[in-house]
Amino acid sequence: MNGKIAGVAGWPVAQSLSPVIHRYWFDLYGVDGSYVALAIEPENFSQCMGALPLMGFAGINVTVPHKQAAFALATARDEDARRTGAVNLLIFGQEGISGANTDVRGFAASLADGRAVGALQNRTACVLGAGGAARAVILALQRRGVSEVRIVNRTRERAAAVAQHYAAEIPCQVVDWGDWQQAFEGVAILVNTTSLGMRGKAPLAVPLDALPESAAVADIVYNPVETDLLHRARARGHATLDGLGMLMHQAVPAFAALFGVTPEVTAELRARLIRVLQERA
Ligand code: ATR
Repeated sequence: MNGKIAGVAGWPVAQSLSPVIHRYWFDLYGVDGSYVALAIEPENFSQCMGALPLMGFAGINVTVPHKQAAFALATARDEDARRTGAVNLLIFGQEGISGANTDVRGFAASLADGRAVGALQNRTACVLGAGGAARAVILALQRRGVSEVRIVNRTRERAAAVAQHYAAEIPCQVVDWGDWQQAFEGVAILVNTTSLGMRGKAPLAVPLDALPESAAVADIVYNPVETDLLHRARARGHATLDGLGMLMHQAVPAFAALFGVTPEVTAELRARLIRVLQERA
């Protein structure tokens, strides 16, 4: 029994599945913890973070739009946080606030789970989007052996900034949004990191004709679980990877750091999340 308190801070945060995941693991492992969703406006973020340790919080996950602010607030950062410039987990310690990025490990573990995803060693990947999620995904792809990334983003300058950020680690080529032939030629995997395809947003209207048959298609959007992109990819025979994998796996190191137990991602957890998404739809 440790009675630790943690949670997730976002704006908005009502859609977050993190409380469902952490509470599932409380039950599974008999951990005496609490995990709450905190809606915190960006302008109040640092003030609220200052108050949480005083209120007994062990730490907090942070989600959109606070990941950069959390990075700035941390007094120590793990390697993935330093390399991505984003923090999604703050742990309140005696010596200060340590910041971690568990999204990179989350996507890497999701890739490893996806048996249908072929070898990525020395292959090219295409990443759609150039936000924080794209940075995490690119780092995970590089760890998996991908040797070149094509970044395609509506706003080209943001893609160029990400390419520049990773220039020393992996060659990134910027391709204009719409140049799908150039973007997809010879790729082993396509990953959507944009918010397109999320419930309530426009679908990702990207033609897949130029995608090699052997390419895997991954989406980090998890609501709906089968996005229009994944639906079309599956219909064309591509191996697909949905966003629940990354979501569940990024929570593993977070739960371990917060509650001292390394949990497992199970089929039952996935089924529970799908049920909750259906109830909320
Ligand atoms: P995150 O940090 O979660 O990745 P973000 O920084 O807001 O979030 O990034 C969202 C991504 O979705 C961006 O790549 C964004 O493209 P821009 O950089 O051009 O804004 C992309 N995106 C959002 N709406 C889009 C749309 N209607 N068409 C194309 N891309 C879109």
